[in-house]
Amino acid sequence: MRIAGRLASEVLDFITPHVRPGISTGELDRLCHDYMVDVQGTIPAPLNYAPPGHTPYPKSICTSVNHQVCHGIPGDRVLKSGDVVNIDITVIKDGYHGDTSRMFEVGNVSTQAKRLCAITYECMWRGIRMVRPGAHLGDIGHAIQTLAEASGYSIVREFCGHGIGTRFHEDPQVLHYGRPGAGVKLQAGMIFTIEPMVNAGQARIRQLADGWTIVTADHSPSAQWEHTVLVTEDGHEVLTVSAGSPPPPPA
Ligand code: MF3
Ligand code: CO
Ligand code: CO
Repeated sequence: MRIAGRLASEVLDFITPHVRPGISTGELDRLCHDYMVDVQGTIPAPLNYAPPGHTPYPKSICTSVNHQVCHGIPGDRVLKSGDVVNIDITVIKDGYHGDTSRMFEVGNVSTQAKRLCAITYECMWRGIRMVRPGAHLGDIGHAIQTLAEASGYSIVREFCGHGIGTRFHEDPQVLHYGRPGAGVKLQAGMIFTIEPMVNAGQARIRQLADGWTIVTADHSPSAQWEHTVLVTEDGHEVLTVSAGSPPPPPA
């Protein structure tokens, strides 16, 4: 899981210099696909992924731009200055999954969009910092929800973090809202993702007719960051780290 996590993060490192005005999301997908398959020897987990009630996902990465919340399908859309885009990478290496995403600012981005991305990053880390044996999943959700709402934002409820291992999405569900002390008690050895989706406006979402892309109902911008996290004997270890990982925010 450490190796899979590092490799997923290294795909984000690889794609970073390409995320510029003028590139299409489809080109980002092709570049990442070829890097995973030809350079890393990893399998892009999204490609043909078909959970119950979904058509097979047609691409190797997710690219969610501006008011797209998650699961944006790469295609002909060309990024322009002022866009913010989440790129979500899941690789399979030797049967194990690593799942991570980051926000990217394209060209010159508004101060509001920068703030949304920065606070969502801090929300993810507030959640990660709750992870230790004996803590509860509700402690993670509560920490994330508290900062997001105090900042004037809302938390998407329909999607959550998830256990991960030899399967992409496993139990438990890791909600990004909740009450301290509620839910599953954490034990050393558990591995799950923390991946808050934070909307600048209302929490409500809609699914597009492509069967995958999730957007905010009010078309307000949305941001997301994701790490895969191991519960250790004395706290946590973030598995999706690499040379290019942004540093954790000050505690
Ligand atoms: N990577 C996403 C997650 O964090 C799931 C994407 S499913 C896909 O759970 F099929 F859209 F790729
Ligand atoms: Co995930
Ligand atoms: Co993901």
